[in-house]
Amino acid sequence: MEIKKVGVVGCGLMGSGIAQVSATAGFEVTVLEVEQRFLDKGFTGIEKSLAKFSEKGNLKEDPAAVRARLKGTTNKQDLAYCDIVIEAITENVAEKKQMFASLDPIVRKDAILATNTSSISVTELLSATKRPERLIGMHFFNPVPLMKLVEVVRTIATAPDVYESGYQFGKKLGKVPVRTSDKTGFIVNRLLVPYLLDAIRAYEEGVASIPDIDNAMKLGCGYPMGPFTLLDFVGLDTTYYITHVMYDEFKEGRFASPPLLKRLVMAGWYGRKTGKGFYDYADPNNPVPGNFD
Ligand code: CAA
Repeated sequence: MEIKKVGVVGCGLMGSGIAQVSATAGFEVTVLEVEQRFLDKGFTGIEKSLAKFSEKGNLKEDPAAVRARLKGTTNKQDLAYCDIVIEAITENVAEKKQMFASLDPIVRKDAILATNTSSISVTELLSATKRPERLIGMHFFNPVPLMKLVEVVRTIATAPDVYESGYQFGKKLGKVPVRTSDKTGFIVNRLLVPYLLDAIRAYEEGVASIPDIDNAMKLGCGYPMGPFTLLDFVGLDTTYYITHVMYDEFKEGRFASPPLLKRLVMAGWYGRKTGKGFYDYADPNNPVPGNFD
């Protein structure tokens, strides 16, 4: 099927990024939020990001032309004529199920439904819709406008033509899609999460300091960010949530949260977004590593 109109549910970090790349790729995009203020915040971020791409000559057209393809709404009915609807709301099974159930009678019957979940089983969401064969996972990476990957996830119920359309749509967004089945964590988090947790365990065991572990992995392996910088970037609350879902699925110690991660989350230190995590971001240009001996 040909996708022309894109619906995005949620205008947070991920939803606004997905909306931005969709509009940049030439699609008409409608973004649904619960309140106008969330749309305003998300669209301000999109405008800044488009301006950056434009300044560097990395946008084929005027940012205003891309922006004109983006529409915000707080009315679900506005998603009725979308060819694909991508859900990017909070990582909560009940909320996602409720969202898909409420979209079911509204969104056209031949549309593709997609979820951007990073850890929840796509299969678990099937029961919320009367068209399970049309639901896929499309897992994007933060920051969406810069990260080239999208994991395209199939469940045992996904119709092959729907899956292929989702995969081709990923390409049209200028991303590199990879195919994966619906096993918790898909490809990236299955490998990334144990690595991040091992970095915390290495610190807990006194192997090295936080900046030394970060520098070791950055400079020794060519990673763009060391594990603690990346943990703070992804969000410690998000990572902690993912560890629970993954541990619950696999019952393997490598997916279990180290005590220090739990303590930082309990303290409300979620990383960059709260100004404190493994580093202190009082001066965002000069993060100061914590000492948790
Ligand atoms: N829009 C447009 N331009 C942007 C931008 C945005 N949203 N964000 C940053 N940029 C630009 C910056 O302005 C900068 O431009 P200049 O070079 O002209 O200054 C350029 O991109 C590079 O940015 P930075 O200098 O800030 O930093 P960087 O070179 O380290 O690149 C990065 C930033 C792409 C985020 C890089 O550090 C990186 O790849 N980090 C790893 C990110 C990662 O692993 N993400 C996945 C997380 S896991 C996940 O998302 C899945 C999950 O389920 C948890």
